[in-house]
Amino acid sequence: MALFDRKAEESEIVSGRDAATRALSVTAVENDFVEGVYDKLAKVYDLIFGPTLHPGRLQAIERMNVQPGERVLEVGVGTGINLSLYPDTCSVTGIDFSSSMLEKARERAARKEHRHVRLLQMDAADLKFADGSFDIVYAPYLISVVPDPVKVAQEMRRVCRPGGRIIFLNHFLSANPILSRIERLISPFTIHIGFKSDLDLPAFLAQSGLQPISIEKVNVPKIWSLVTSVK
Ligand SMILES: C[S@@+](CC[C@H](N)C(=O)[O-])C[C@H]1O[C@@H](n2cnc3c(N)ncnc32)[C@H](O)[C@@H]1O
Repeated sequence: MALFDRKAEESEIVSGRDAATRALSVTAVENDFVEGVYDKLAKVYDLIFGPTLHPGRLQAIERMNVQPGERVLEVGVGTGINLSLYPDTCSVTGIDFSSSMLEKARERAARKEHRHVRLLQMDAADLKFADGSFDIVYAPYLISVVPDPVKVAQEMRRVCRPGGRIIFLNHFLSANPILSRIERLISPFTIHIGFKSDLDLPAFLAQSGLQPISIEKVNVPKIWSLVTSVK
């Protein structure tokens, strides 16, 4: 039966029923594929995804309210487009598995003399940090591109200290039945430009065991979400 043949499935998406077990997206990806996509995107990333997605980045930094001395981990740091936004009184660790994206981030950090920043090549699903290493663990525009979002969220939670903040900035599947239909249809195509358009937020939260303290709509149009939780 086709995915949208049953009316019930639409109401399940909206209501969050079944969230603990249902698939997070219709699109499956592997790390190799994603790495290939971002190696190609690295040269044009800031141009395409810079200004359009920037209001969300600014709102996230405001929400984070980073305090002097805090340790921030940015997961999927990409070209380092967020690096100038963090106060230089905190320490920032940015990780990414794409060497092309990281190269851009390294150039940017050197150019702007960001001495409070370190950049490391790493898989978000296998973070090489001890438990509780960070005060803030932040994934801007990452979680809808990884093969296993729940594993990544669990890793983010593990490396966050008790009482620390875990923050996602991302596009998620719309609660509107017509939009969600479109997002599911186009998801196998949008992955070629770096994201799945149909990541199911209630299912992601239920399966990751995260309980958000706030979910704010950001960017224009407001189809991206800033999801903040505390460990
Ligand atoms: C959409 S970009 C986000 C870049 C930046 N955070 C921003 O605000 O624009 C997603 C980044 O996540 C990285 N990425 C995707 N999957 C990853 C994984 N499993 N581990 C580490 N980085 C990953 C990609 O290489 C890419 O640089």
